[in-house]
Amino acid sequence: MIIDGKKEAEILRNEIKREISQIKKKINKAPSLHVILVGNFAPSEIYVRNKIKKSKEVGINSKIIRYPKDVKEEEVLNKIDELNKDNEVSGILVQLPLPKQINKEKIIKLINPLKDVDGFHPSNVGNLASGYSSMIPCTPFGCLLLIKKVEKNLSGKHAVIIGRSNLNGKPMAQLLLKENCTVTIVHSKTKNIKDECLKAEILVVAAGIPNLVKEDWVKTNSIIIDVGINKLENRIVGDVEFEKIKEKVKAITPVPGGVGPMTIACLLKNTLKCFKARLT
Ligand code: GUN
Repeated sequence: MIIDGKKEAEILRNEIKREISQIKKKINKAPSLHVILVGNFAPSEIYVRNKIKKSKEVGINSKIIRYPKDVKEEEVLNKIDELNKDNEVSGILVQLPLPKQINKEKIIKLINPLKDVDGFHPSNVGNLASGYSSMIPCTPFGCLLLIKKVEKNLSGKHAVIIGRSNLNGKPMAQLLLKENCTVTIVHSKTKNIKDECLKAEILVVAAGIPNLVKEDWVKTNSIIIDVGINKLENRIVGDVEFEKIKEKVKAITPVPGGVGPMTIACLLKNTLKCFKARLT
């Protein structure tokens, strides 16, 4: 089975759109998402453009705030402070990566955790790790929803995650632990990645290395989630040898059309969640 992330994301976006339209009818208010984009890193331009386009489609008022790549850190911090205080702002997202003169940690820590649609603030990270309610980072959130489309009950499953980033690997591990999986994280210093992967009933790959995972790294009947987006000369590929592996496993996400669209749909879900929390 090939998991259709495009279709699942569309279903989720339609649910979000319906809910926003009902709220709008009742109270004549809509969520708003403010995206800060520093510099002109091409992949970030594409991601942000998509985030804004999809948010507008579901009825979220979205706005890009652009800065040149040599902007002073203080200017961005001041803007975040202003957005934190503005009651009309539901969600704040600072697109990463940031140029060297800007301290990512300072930026992430300044965002009001209740407007932190990325779920990167240490307060959200800590709440997620403690099993409390929190904002959930969009990519692992999307991965979990796709896994649960294939298998509702993940209890006792052995999950292996390749990659230990704050954006993907670590929050993915927390989410799968919450689902009662046995979780292993492997990374660039792990001694025998292939042997670990062979134990996986669920394998989430977020390494950023094209075709890293080979057919003989995966178990039959496993679920493979490919988070990689790697640009080759004329096409985009994931981190998994898709063509060979798709015949062997129970379910696999394609690239493109797998995790990518779900990430954006989850950003919209998070923005709606932040908006609703401010209404109560
Ligand atoms: N850059 C790549 N992925 C992400 C993401 O999920 N959030 C932000 N803010 N920046 C990113």
